[in-house]
Amino acid sequence: MLKNKDLLGLKNVPKEEIQLILEVADEMKKIVRSPHKKSPYFVGKSMATLFYENSTRTKSSFEFACSYMGGVFSSLNVATSSVNKGESILDTLKTIDSFGTDVIVIRHSMSGVPHVYAPHVKAHVINAGDGTNEHPTQALLDMLTLKQNFDSFDGLQVAILGDIKHSRVARSNIWGLSKMGATIKIFGPETLLPTGIEKMPNVKMCKSVKEAVKGADAVMGLRLQLERMTKGLIPSMGEFNKKFGVDEDMLSLANKNAILLHPGPVNRNVELSYDVVDCNQSAINEQVTNGVAVRMAVMYLLTRDNKIRSEI
Ligand code: CP
Repeated sequence: MLKNKDLLGLKNVPKEEIQLILEVADEMKKIVRSPHKKSPYFVGKSMATLFYENSTRTKSSFEFACSYMGGVFSSLNVATSSVNKGESILDTLKTIDSFGTDVIVIRHSMSGVPHVYAPHVKAHVINAGDGTNEHPTQALLDMLTLKQNFDSFDGLQVAILGDIKHSRVARSNIWGLSKMGATIKIFGPETLLPTGIEKMPNVKMCKSVKEAVKGADAVMGLRLQLERMTKGLIPSMGEFNKKFGVDEDMLSLANKNAILLHPGPVNRNVELSYDVVDCNQSAINEQVTNGVAVRMAVMYLLTRDNKIRSEI
């Protein structure tokens, strides 16, 4: 059971709720891995996705999560929808809500869109990424991956590298990981560091990739979000890769059992070298599997009023 009607970000989600989501997700992962992939946790319920921005992982994993729990879903294709006839976000959401939808998953390029419109619909709203603000289920799946690899979050060092300025993933991870007791080591080009990042909780600013990676338990590369850059903020992809990219030599400076994370999509040979993406320490594919489990857990917990974990 979660306190709020919606999941819009991790900034205001208490540590206990994050722990609960991760524990339920661990159970849900057994269903994802099972040969039948059937469970009753969303039977009689419905989900709709409304993505104003492109997606492979997030949108599909919500759809799989819904199916694995016995629910029904509809994914609106914004490009061919009445949005193109001028229908507003509010009217589109109200229309989807009126179908009797239990959960609406929304992604939009403008920060704050889910927060503005969630109070206007009965459905539980999940933020699947709003501009540069938050992407809570991505951070939860990152945290689930860490939980499965380490005994505790306490004292864990997570290096986040690259385009921090445009990264809703970085922001949600900082909010979530700091609550769990981890330290977040940040490094990126000065032009791609947002104002005030150093004041966020448990953040340690670093001066080089080497400094950030050395002693880290997890290294997270971030995609250069060229679609959000209004002007050239880096000299070139090649230059960026040389100074800010991670390869196997760099990763070897991290702790012995360190894992490599990336939210995807990866630009090979830009933020990560081609080979490091598939190295033994890479947890990138596991993150994708965990994405389904986390989204199952979130949808289940948001739509259950009085259910307890022991039912799973
Ligand atoms: N990590 C992530 O949000 O990926 P997609 O853009 O493919 O959904």
